[in-house]
Amino acid sequence: MPYAHITGWGMHLPARILTNEDLAKMVDTSDQWIRERTGIRERRIASEHESSASLGAEASVQALRMAGISPTDLDLIICSSSSPEHIFPSTASIIQDKIGATRAGAFDLSAACSGFIYAINMGAQSIRSGSVKSVLVIGAETLSRFTNYKDRNTCILFGDGAGAFVLQASEKPGGVMGAVMHSDGSGADFLTIPAGGSKRPIDEVGLHTGQHFIHMDGKEVFRFATRVMAQSTLEAVTKSGWKLEDLKMVVPHQANIRIIEAAARGLKMPMEKFFVNLERYGNTSTASIPIATTEAVQVGKIRPGDKLVFVGFGAGLTWAALAAEWTGPLEPQTTRRIDPALYQPWARVRSFFRRVLRALEGIFFGRQA
Ligand code: UT7
Repeated sequence: MPYAHITGWGMHLPARILTNEDLAKMVDTSDQWIRERTGIRERRIASEHESSASLGAEASVQALRMAGISPTDLDLIICSSSSPEHIFPSTASIIQDKIGATRAGAFDLSAACSGFIYAINMGAQSIRSGSVKSVLVIGAETLSRFTNYKDRNTCILFGDGAGAFVLQASEKPGGVMGAVMHSDGSGADFLTIPAGGSKRPIDEVGLHTGQHFIHMDGKEVFRFATRVMAQSTLEAVTKSGWKLEDLKMVVPHQANIRIIEAAARGLKMPMEKFFVNLERYGNTSTASIPIATTEAVQVGKIRPGDKLVFVGFGAGLTWAALAAEWTGPLEPQTTRRIDPALYQPWARVRSFFRRVLRALEGIFFGRQA
């Protein structure tokens, strides 16, 4: 049975920075309150030209480059997002077209901030079953589009960004070792965008009352998060046959420094073993774990052979943890390859001509069909 290794990683963040001081000019808050209660100093906000798919595509190209494979090597793309481009088509399909992954199947996965862990696990299980060899897993968010910048309970928390992992099959033991996924839908109302789905399509009343924005009971989510983070980390470690002492690093969902500190206390682990970068990006929901992992690798805190746990929680309510031994690229990258970014202009041309061809087919053959 092949193992599923994490062989590529990447991140992409919008350039625009929204600081606590900026927010203090918009709502009744202060830099001090936000830093003390959350640990966040600033977050990134997408420009009007950026979207979950464009951020996700950039992160994906980096992850492919890191793994040393081409977009056309991919068998499957899974995109986790709470701010997808549309209800349908999937953001994964749009990214598939953007990066030129012409052989890959693509679908979105919805498990809010826990989504990236669910998605790695789904990708890894597809590899373990032997049905695919290379999977791209993306976490991409533009939650600023669903944030009410008049609501100080939520607008201080969220930021935009994307991260991606490449998973590949190898007979060499390692990679994804064990995972747990949980859900408790009785807490669905604690963190939700009430309108815009089939239960409540957006109407004028909904628009006026801000039902198309994120609504959150922060206290309830906080209570739930501090309960499940330590517990699910322990479950994933036990499932992998490891001990907590084996862990080199825990990469937690970057929501609030106090939640991460509570998890560290619960596990009796030092904070140095928890990678934290939320002060610069805020809560990027499902993108926070791949962004944090990419930075942890960049600063040398994660190296090949290290035993790690990714752990997160979010709307649903959902929570999940996944234990993995860090791999890095499978092959030493000695052979010259075409840079994955160079597939993008070609993919744009290809996509344009496919649309033109489809339109012409409609004009010439449409009536006969
Ligand atoms: O990915 C999952 C996403 N969600 C989360 O992770 C949310 C988890 N929850 C949290 O992180 C925290 O609950 C918050 C950061 C949202 C709030 O922190 P808290 O320590 O739980 O504050 P609180 O809700 O208990 O509010 C304390 C006080 C209240 O005032 P009163 O009633 O004591 O007078 C709030 O009205 O702080 C007030 N407050 C603020 N003050 C300044 C709430 N938000 C703000 C604010 N600035 N932005």
